[in-house]
Amino acid sequence: MTVLVTGGAGFIGVNFILQWLRDCDEPVVNLDKLTYAGNLKSLTPVLDNPRHNFVRGDIADSGLVAALLQKHRPRAVIHFAAESHVDRSVHDPERFVATNVVGMSRLLEAVRSYYEDSDAAERDRFRFLNVSTDEVFGSVAPDERPFTEKSPYAPSSPYAASKAAADHLARSYYRTYGVPVITSNCSNNYGPYQFPEKLIPLMILNGLSGNNLPVYGDGKHVRDWLYVSDHCRALRELLDQGSPGETYNIGGGVELTNIEVVRAICKELDTATAGENRRPHEELITFVEDRPGHDRRYAIDSGKIEAELGWRPAESFSSALKQTVRWYIDNQKWVDNVRTGDYVAWIETNYGHRAIRA
Ligand code: NAD
Ligand code: TYD
Repeated sequence: MTVLVTGGAGFIGVNFILQWLRDCDEPVVNLDKLTYAGNLKSLTPVLDNPRHNFVRGDIADSGLVAALLQKHRPRAVIHFAAESHVDRSVHDPERFVATNVVGMSRLLEAVRSYYEDSDAAERDRFRFLNVSTDEVFGSVAPDERPFTEKSPYAPSSPYAASKAAADHLARSYYRTYGVPVITSNCSNNYGPYQFPEKLIPLMILNGLSGNNLPVYGDGKHVRDWLYVSDHCRALRELLDQGSPGETYNIGGGVELTNIEVVRAICKELDTATAGENRRPHEELITFVEDRPGHDRRYAIDSGKIEAELGWRPAESFSSALKQTVRWYIDNQKWVDNVRTGDYVAWIETNYGHRAIRA
């Protein structure tokens, strides 16, 4: 049997494919457009692996997706491909609608047609795993309980709104056509191969280069953090045991303010660079203008996947953060490769206008 992964050259997709090919025999077809966030170099360990079949293409290309489904007859589609960065969505919302909404709609339509033409045994085992985010729920007040699967959708950013639309489309394909869709809503991931526009890799790399660590607003925004390998394991559990038509929240149970995360990174960097005669990395922290529409707090209740599927995060924040800092230090070639071209232009777009607030 085969599975089709979309967006498998991005941060979570790469981690998922590396884990998958390490742990099981099943081949993977990896469909990725290779936007700025897609990086084939991250897949170097498996580029020659005959069980990894990379195809460059767009999820919105209905003909291509239909041909891949016909050719490989996957037992599942694991859908990661998306525009994924909130700040970019503030500058260019349409791109998010194009991939996350229109792309999702075309992908679902191709999958529906494949599903309907499949035989009974194929239909019985087929799953479409829609990898989504907790950001669809908006912000939780400090005194409110974490999001459950029953929390209403209230997205704040164009990114979150486009993912919310995708989730609704996915749900409708289950309800209307019976396509066995499972949706997961996961909290903030961190770990190897994350593009350094997101908080944790950005702070690690800025710190290592002696650049400012730009914290938005007062730094007291709260996120729930999950190590990426734990997320990938949860998705595999959902594939094996999740119920079609259901949604599952996935989180690390680690709520931290951004300033706490940045300080923890600074401590790791101090330890990792001890002997280099550097000033404490915390001196690089700089509070900058806030993100518009910035959600104050994300908090996720993973009780359902824990109770029904027995999944739990295996990594603690402190040890996984240490591993993550070490990974970025040890993988300078990967870092140099991603920090060119579009990345340089992005730093100017996102941080160029942000007034420094002492
Ligand atoms: P990413 O931005 O690192 O990777 C996205 C990948 O999708 C890239 O390889 C890109 O080339 C590819 N892609 C983009 N548009 C495409 C298109 N039209 N056709 C084919 N490929 C396309 O994202 P990520 O952090 O790996 O996130 C993966 C998924 O998980 C996303 O759907 C995201 O919403 C969701 N998610 C992410 C997090 C997180 O913390 N990173 C948390 C919860 C959910
Ligand atoms: P990010 O990694 O962009 O993830 P998301 O917006 O999807 O949660 O940001 C995580 C948090 O860190 C968010 O509250 C915004 C904040 N942040 C900063 O303070 N400075 C930065 O330079 C970045 C990229 C994010």
